[in-house]
Amino acid sequence: MQKTVVIYCSISGFTRKYARWIAEELNADIYDTEQFDPSMFANYDLVIFGGSLHAVGINGISLIKNNLTRLANKKVIVFAVGASPPRENVLDEVLNKNFTEQQRKEIRFFYLRGGFNYDKLDLPNKLLMSLMRVRLTLKRKKNRTADEVGMLAAFSNPVDFTRKENINEILEYARE
Ligand SMILES: Cc1cc2nc3c(=O)[nH]c(=O)nc-3n(C[C@H](O)[C@H](O)[C@H](O)COP(=O)(O)O)c2cc1C
Repeated sequence: MQKTVVIYCSISGFTRKYARWIAEELNADIYDTEQFDPSMFANYDLVIFGGSLHAVGINGISLIKNNLTRLANKKVIVFAVGASPPRENVLDEVLNKNFTEQQRKEIRFFYLRGGFNYDKLDLPNKLLMSLMRVRLTLKRKKNRTADEVGMLAAFSNPVDFTRKENINEILEYARE
């Protein structure tokens, strides 16, 4: 039987929600990155890592990138969770920013849409996002993109785009 682990790095809970759904469906062990030591990779055949997007970077991804030698003979899945809709250009940007061409051959990448909840952020991220809010508010209305308009609205009304069926492609690939 294939032994699977799901490891996640989540600030406001969206990635954790997806990680729990995936672990439940695959009967996998599940850890927050804080609880996971790289020596534990040895116990698993399939490693699934999920991290939320911050300025296109995947939170906690160094756990995977710094341990590629340990992961050499395993199946590795990485999913990123962001507020943006899953457009192809978003995916390309995330792939290019986070992985080399070689790493893309070793890792299967997925993007899942999360949400945005300002109240659940930690203090440093609240500060970062407040700056962004000021920047967007100062931008002329007619120059704001649709995503920026949505983002501004989400500061006062949290949005949650998580859907359980979004994990289906990951489950399919994991079970192959
Ligand atoms: C500082 C900061 C930067 C962010 N940058 C991005 C981004 O580049 N792309 C995106 O789609 N979402 C971005 N987001 C939104 C988060 O990725 C989104 O809220 C995600 O669902 C959070 O997941 P989590 O609760 O598991 O941390 C950002 C959020 C914060 C706080």
